[in-house]
Amino acid sequence: MSIVLASTDFWEDMEVWSNGLQKAMPEMDIKVYPDDGDVNEVEFAVVWKHPRGILKKYPNLKAILSLGAGVDHIISDPDLPEGLPIIRLVDKKLTHEMCLHALHWVLHFHSDQYLYRSQQLKRQWIQQSSIQIEERTIGIMGLGNIGRSIGELLVTQSFNVIGWGANQKSSLTDIKYYYGQDQLSDFLGRTNILINVLPLTSDTTNIITKKELSLLPKDSFIINIGRGGIINEDDLLTLLSEGHIKAAALDVFAQEPLPENNSLWDHPSVYITPHIAGQSNPNSAGQTISENIHRIQKGELPYPIYSRDNGY
Ligand code: GLV
Repeated sequence: MSIVLASTDFWEDMEVWSNGLQKAMPEMDIKVYPDDGDVNEVEFAVVWKHPRGILKKYPNLKAILSLGAGVDHIISDPDLPEGLPIIRLVDKKLTHEMCLHALHWVLHFHSDQYLYRSQQLKRQWIQQSSIQIEERTIGIMGLGNIGRSIGELLVTQSFNVIGWGANQKSSLTDIKYYYGQDQLSDFLGRTNILINVLPLTSDTTNIITKKELSLLPKDSFIINIGRGGIINEDDLLTLLSEGHIKAAALDVFAQEPLPENNSLWDHPSVYITPHIAGQSNPNSAGQTISENIHRIQKGELPYPIYSRDNGY
């Protein structure tokens, strides 16, 4: 019985991943694609942007497990074996990293750090009159595990936090929740710093275009740590250049790596990081993945399973 690890992205880290999984599951034979041994032995595939079509090679595959929180990199394979459970990664360490990354940019924008940097370059001593924390509303798109944790952290720092998601949810104590297309305008109209952590699905692709960005109050900020295809990049550049949006911190892009000729690189109000906001950790994620594999082996349900209806 074996597990195949497959990625087109993390090649240099595959040994570390293999060790992380092996430590969590000493009884399993861990193979790294393309060195996958006897294909009949492979029962689980643990993947991040796997080479398209390879998962059909394994006739006894029982489940596909994601090495990251999102599963869009799996679903986008047009040649996926049918009927297998696909398991997302909900991992405490990854969620914590995402929270810290979001907090970093919220503080950077809230406390005018982006202005002080440009002032320093011009040797200017200007004390900005800062906006009170309670007057700053942070709007989080996507209130799943990660969005909720970011929201709760910001609430503890006294920010006013609101959230938006596609569907109705049970109430969240300190976070006013908006849902559905009908309430998107209200949500955006109240948001000063927009954080996107939505998963990429057919419903969320290009959901934020020029029209939606214009609904944000003037001088708002964007932090995108969900997926690039959700906020239209050309429209974002237009609103940044018009000065409606003050600055954007982007960790995810419609095309990754971000092509060298993309204009986002050059915009003075855009901060780019190379999809590092929540990096899965081989020890912690290895443990979470092994718990799910053990559940499947015992005939129990792994968590959380990708839902075709929700698209995530
Ligand atoms: C990263 O983007 C992830 O899906 O974990």
